[in-house]
Amino acid sequence: MAFLPPPSTATAAALSSGAFRRDGAVSVRRPARISGVRMGPDAAAAAAADGDGVDPPLAPVPNRAGRVKVRRGWSNTTGELIRRVCEDVWVVERAYDWLTVDVGGKTTVIRLPDGSLFVHAPLLLTVSLKRALAALGPVSVIVVPNTEHVDGAAQWVASYPDAVALGPPGYAARSGKPLADVPADNTPPPSFGGVIEHTFFGSMPLFSESVFFHRPSGTLLTTDLYWNWPSAGVPARTRFFAAGMDWVYKPVYQALLVRDKGRWAEEMGRVLAWGGGRIIPCHGDVLEGVDVPAVLRAHYASLLRE
Ligand SMILES: [Fe+2]
Repeated sequence: MAFLPPPSTATAAALSSGAFRRDGAVSVRRPARISGVRMGPDAAAAAAADGDGVDPPLAPVPNRAGRVKVRRGWSNTTGELIRRVCEDVWVVERAYDWLTVDVGGKTTVIRLPDGSLFVHAPLLLTVSLKRALAALGPVSVIVVPNTEHVDGAAQWVASYPDAVALGPPGYAARSGKPLADVPADNTPPPSFGGVIEHTFFGSMPLFSESVFFHRPSGTLLTTDLYWNWPSAGVPARTRFFAAGMDWVYKPVYQALLVRDKGRWAEEMGRVLAWGGGRIIPCHGDVLEGVDVPAVLRAHYASLLRE
């Protein structure tokens, strides 16, 4: 990803499982690491694989630097290949490199009322993961939520040719990727099963991110619009990087990337009106039992004051 969002600045009241750091970012308590257990998604994949314990990707997926990223990272604390969050919602947690720093990555899977699966922000697809997904249901929707989280999409689209594959409005026309547009007018497609809504942030054209809301579970899915830094388990290099982001990137992100503040306010207002009690960010820990609008208001306090 060329740009990252600022770290979380949620209020303590809005974050029942976390606490403030002195720099104002959210500190999320995590379960202790289990001694002797090899952590990380690729470790989990290996454990679930047959034979020699290798869980290869279905096909090599080079990133923009030409490297194939298949390794475990700090962002999977349970070692599970796919982790249940609540009824009909799971996350797949893997390493995600930005400027060679692992900032952690999540793919979210939601089971729709017809039993099929909605996949948000697809990362690396492996043999074991595909097997695990098949046990949950057929993949019917694949969503690339913004113009930065695109590297894993082609592999999923090729693996699930019958799925509806959506990307940021206008992105497919520019890139030639085999994606249809996420509806820019926020009309939920029939493929969302009547349980998922979205808001396209056209006010931030560099990312062109859409955020999604699963009404039955009150879960907001964000990619780079919101993230947080867990208080434990983050490597020193990543934590050092995070501190730099606090001081350097956050004001740039909020001041420069929003090209139309009036439109942004309308878009954010639509998200705030959803309410909700859980946030699954692509980067960071799942926030459970929170007041989602309060978290977002704190995160974007400077913009919302204007
Ligand atoms: Fe990102």
